[in-house]
Amino acid sequence: MKVTIFGTGYVGLVTGACLADVGHDVLCMDVDQGKIERLKNGQIPIYEPGLEAIVSHNVEAGRLLFTTDAEQAVQHGILQFIAVGTPPDEDGSADLQYVTAVAKTIGQYMTDYKVIIDKSTVPVGTGDKVYAAARASLDHRGLELELDVVSNPEFLKEGAAVNDFMKPDRIVIGTESERARELLREVYYPFNRNHDRMIYMDRRSAELTKYAANAMLATKISFMNEIANLAERLGADIEAVRRGIGSDPRIGYHFIYPGCGYGGSCFPKDVTALSRTARDCGYESRLLNAVEAVNAAQKHVLFDKVSHYFGGDLSGKVVALWGLAFKPNTDDMREASARTLMENLWKADARVQAFDPEAMDETQRIYPDEEGLQLCGTKEQALKGADVLVICTEWKEFRSPDFPAIAAALREPVVFDGRNLYEPEMLTRYGLMYYAIGRGSNQFQSA
Ligand SMILES: NC(=O)c1ccc[n+]([C@@H]2O[C@H](COP(=O)([O-])OP(=O)(O)OC[C@H]3O[C@@H](n4cnc5c(N)ncnc54)[C@H](O)[C@@H]3O)[C@@H](O)[C@H]2O)c1
Repeated sequence: MKVTIFGTGYVGLVTGACLADVGHDVLCMDVDQGKIERLKNGQIPIYEPGLEAIVSHNVEAGRLLFTTDAEQAVQHGILQFIAVGTPPDEDGSADLQYVTAVAKTIGQYMTDYKVIIDKSTVPVGTGDKVYAAARASLDHRGLELELDVVSNPEFLKEGAAVNDFMKPDRIVIGTESERARELLREVYYPFNRNHDRMIYMDRRSAELTKYAANAMLATKISFMNEIANLAERLGADIEAVRRGIGSDPRIGYHFIYPGCGYGGSCFPKDVTALSRTARDCGYESRLLNAVEAVNAAQKHVLFDKVSHYFGGDLSGKVVALWGLAFKPNTDDMREASARTLMENLWKADARVQAFDPEAMDETQRIYPDEEGLQLCGTKEQALKGADVLVICTEWKEFRSPDFPAIAAALREPVVFDGRNLYEPEMLTRYGLMYYAIGRGSNQFQSA
């Protein structure tokens, strides 16, 4: 099928590449000229395991093309996917300007029936706005072409995006149009061979499903962080508690890891946007507000522990930092906990020697002139001359480090672990003091 994708970010590029990989004829459009040039030259603007191979294979096969030409993009596909960003507005609600701009563009250039498929995460009712924006452009041209708008939220996880897209848990399709539903069934048919993953519903329910999924996952994390903070104050070990509750199948082990807060491009903005949507319809969501507040506070917990260790004076201290990305297997730094930590450390006149397997360029781009930041080529280099070590991201290569080398390199043999990667007893054996999240009575460090 002929498919157009607007937006070549994490969602758009993965969607385009994977649809091309199963044989569809895909044209990806982006307003970012530089990005499209890089893609045309075979360069992938983001780090996502497996993506580069799929993109280059399908570009070579002629099934995946890139353009900045909006008219060409609209002409190309009967299916027009919107996968542009929906960043938070000043008041926390989703900024829909990019989504509606695409809708207008489609109305401006379409010459026959199109299905506009919204993959961006958008508030309930956005489908109506997308329809109205495209329809307004058509009215302006005096055309009465047929048009359907479908909500098809994306559930892929950064770091596992290709696999998630190829083997989705579910494909949610929100539309009342039989014609659009059939076209969507056809385009996704190759992903349903093992069993049918399609879930059909009305458009508003599909839009809410995406927010409900992210809000539920964020709630699980904030809940565990709340219990971890309690565990520290009560002399309990959150890792024992986690195993104790995860074994209950009604709770399960997924997404109950305590840590130094969630980040990324989705959870923070989606929880805020849903809370904002609730307020707009006269409902104050106490639970969503609490999820957000707990997370905002959790992002300061590591700094508080480091600061407490040094008696509140961090001036001139050097902190080795392992992990910058908001989670492993991505270079995405949006809302990363490491950013809150580093910014707190710089405010306290400490310096940071950081290493991340993938997010160094992105960090450099965000903090180009930060004197308190030194990016190091390896995790070992980050330790040299540092006072203590802090871990913010659970990359695999941090899981089993050379502990004696860490103890020897640091001025103070102390590890602050925001992801609970190690057994406390093991570090003690190597002469390292270990402060993790929610682990035992010696862990509590008040701000
Ligand atoms: N990143 C994720 O893991 C993820 C997962 C599920 C859903 N989502 C949602 O998907 C949407 C996109 O997220 P992302 O992380 O891929 O964003 P992104 O910021 O990585 O990419 C968005 C792209 O859209 C382009 N763009 C903006 N205006 C455009 C226009 N008028 N025409 C064409 N392109 C345009 C930008 O240049 C950019 O390349 C968001 O709503 C997000 O919430 C993201």
